[in-house]
Amino acid sequence: MWWSPRPASQQVQATTPVPAQAFRFAAPVLPTPVALIVARWLARLVVLVVKLPFRFPVAVAAAVASFLVWRAFGWITVAVAWSLVDVGLLVWWRRWPVSFRRWVGLRVLAAWRWWWVYARQWQPVLVVAGLAETYQERQYLPRIRRVTCSAWADRVRVRLVAGTTPADFENRVAELAHGFGAPSCRVTVLGPRDVVLEFPRWDTLAEPIAALDVPTVPDLGALPVGLQEDGTPWRLRLHGTHVLVVGVTGSGKGSVLWSAIRAMLPALEDGTAQVWAVDPKRMELSYGRSLFARYADTGEAAVALLEEAVAQMRERAERYAGRQRSHTPTTEDPFTVVVLDEVAFLTAYHPDRDVRRRAENAIATLTSQGRSVGFCVLAALQDPRKEVMNLRNLFPDKIALRLDEASQVDMVLGEGARDRGANAHLIDSTLPGVAFVRLEGSPMPVRVRAAYVSDDDIDTMTANHAPTSSSGLCAVGGAA
Ligand SMILES: Nc1ncnc2c1ncn2[C@@H]1O[C@H](COP(=O)(O)OP(=O)(O)O)[C@@H](O)[C@H]1O
Ligand SMILES: [Mg+2]
Repeated sequence: MWWSPRPASQQVQATTPVPAQAFRFAAPVLPTPVALIVARWLARLVVLVVKLPFRFPVAVAAAVASFLVWRAFGWITVAVAWSLVDVGLLVWWRRWPVSFRRWVGLRVLAAWRWWWVYARQWQPVLVVAGLAETYQERQYLPRIRRVTCSAWADRVRVRLVAGTTPADFENRVAELAHGFGAPSCRVTVLGPRDVVLEFPRWDTLAEPIAALDVPTVPDLGALPVGLQEDGTPWRLRLHGTHVLVVGVTGSGKGSVLWSAIRAMLPALEDGTAQVWAVDPKRMELSYGRSLFARYADTGEAAVALLEEAVAQMRERAERYAGRQRSHTPTTEDPFTVVVLDEVAFLTAYHPDRDVRRRAENAIATLTSQGRSVGFCVLAALQDPRKEVMNLRNLFPDKIALRLDEASQVDMVLGEGARDRGANAHLIDSTLPGVAFVRLEGSPMPVRVRAAYVSDDDIDTMTANHAPTSSSGLCAVGGAA
């Protein structure tokens, strides 16, 4: 029917009217003429046909070419042509697998994932996750603009509904990940109403990473210590900052400390950097003792070491005052990294109150004043709760390895980190060294894995790279 069967009727209120309500206002309902609906469908079809060659140029070109060949030469020619194309693709795949993967494999995969996973499940998942908006009884869904695949993840570019924010997605990454059957989900903002949801297809960090090659010229602002989830190196800044590594026993704190030390080896060797190590458990750092300029393994010795670091830092600051605003590592003024394993042993668990207080004071002084004069504290900690470590906030950079409780994630990585997908409490216990970090300039947590520096690696390091200048080499207290 092309006309409306009845004149405009009144909308009937579905709920029972309240008897005391004297007036009820109801909006008149005007049934849309069928002609308009059909016209709208046709318009959409035209838009789709116009857009299709731009969205899927290869597929459309192949279909059109096949059709033309079929009309001109018959179906046998089409079959032969397609067989030739298949053989060509086969040769491409065998001879140049990398470019085949990039230009064909991942694109076909993206088209498949777009249709099979995202387009099909988009509405139910978003509605159940609470990401669909309703306005005047109409539902508005964010729209998928594009799906691309990398070797390890799907990237779904989404246009947001006007009036919503990327934070709505960031707060529902768990729902989205489970909804689309991915191990995790991360949200990146590209621009206004333009976000990318990244869904890994498998865990790229499942295999342990062997100790990385020692760089010939170490960059103390970006030491390679492992890999990021996307396969690129995870670089850790030490110069100009302090780093706190948090994780339960067995989470792999040692591998972060050792990977950082390993990446600095040439600088330790030529004396432009020094490591001062404190190892209350005597299990972690004692193994590579000859690499360290100072070493302490008892409470008293550790406090003496820390106070000496403070004294040197003050002396340096005095010399620099008014003459120099930043530190350049030299053999006279080496970059000094104070590595503290199990720092809570000093600040919370040591039986001597005086040791606890002095250690805490020294660490607070180093972390608050040491950055610009070339002192860095790299500390490992099991329990991030405030009672145990109230110096947490003095460390600008933090690394969250496997944690005990969900509430600890935000304590370590800052507010909102867990909502943005840093599920450090869910890291599998079979994956030591896996962590979440926040890289410079981005609020988004990144999943990384530290390379594993084995005892054999440490043996090789001490044999080949022990500091040559023995001037700085002296143990403090009980560590001789
Ligand atoms: N990055 C890593 N990759 C693979 N295995 C690791 C890694 N880090 C640690 N491990 C394994 O986990 C064990 C515990 O690591 P460790 O560094 O001692 O933990 P923590 O110091 O946090 O208690 C190690 O003995 C090692 O076998
Ligand atoms: Mg340890």
